[in-house]
Amino acid sequence: MPDTPALAHVAIIMDGNGRWAKQRNLPRTAGHRRGIEATRAIIEACVQHEIRYLTLFAFSSENWKRPKTEISVLMDLFVESLQSEVQSLNEKGVCLRFLGHRPGFSDGLCKQIQQAEELTRTNDTLFLNIAMGYGGRWDILQAVENIVEDVVHERLAVEDIDEALLEEHLVTHGIPAPDLFIRTGGEKRISNFLLWQLAYTELYFSDILWPDFNPDELEKAFENYRVRQRRFGLIQEQLA
Ligand code: IPE
Ligand code: IPE
Ligand code: MG
Repeated sequence: MPDTPALAHVAIIMDGNGRWAKQRNLPRTAGHRRGIEATRAIIEACVQHEIRYLTLFAFSSENWKRPKTEISVLMDLFVESLQSEVQSLNEKGVCLRFLGHRPGFSDGLCKQIQQAEELTRTNDTLFLNIAMGYGGRWDILQAVENIVEDVVHERLAVEDIDEALLEEHLVTHGIPAPDLFIRTGGEKRISNFLLWQLAYTELYFSDILWPDFNPDELEKAFENYRVRQRRFGLIQEQLA
């Protein structure tokens, strides 16, 4: 029997809220509300499974192109959920970190994000990263900009630039690459999520719409992952 691959970091594209609502003749935003309940259960399940890192894609840089009314409800929901959830996440020992860029977020939301990060900073049961206003291309670009700046000011030589250095400049610095990527909602694409970080991540796609995704479905993804063989470019014989 091959060894079960380690599972420290799970990254999820929580997709399908709008279709879930549409199937029920409800406004798309009703799907987002139900999506929050699913999110709560999945976070709890990850704590139970002793997953170390969970990264959730909540709002992409491209989602700013959606109708203003939907964006406005989403932003209100982020504010509401932070208000209602942060305390109990803190009690569970969850360390919160927000990945993405904040222009467009209200001052109130930015303040809540800051406070949530500050409050949970020393927790270490589960490292929960919320990608909000995040885009993989933006992440790589901002890293490149910072590196170029260091080179221009002679704090860094071009020869010093390697993969490790670039990783240190990504907003995910300090977080290991995801072991397992899950996308719900049936689409088989990355949609500008963690482009650099997913290079060797195992991919799992579920047709279940996010509001219906539950700990049993998560368990299915974990089972599917457990029988994968991660080779990272090597041949099977080298792995033993
Ligand atoms: C994911 O669900 C939530 C966000 C992108 C904010 P969608 O809103 O994309 O739902 P579908 O894909 O239209 O069903
Ligand atoms: C990806 O879902 C972003 C989030 C779930 C936050 P989208 O619904 O925005 O992706 P596309 O448009 O189907 O690629
Ligand atoms: Mg979608």
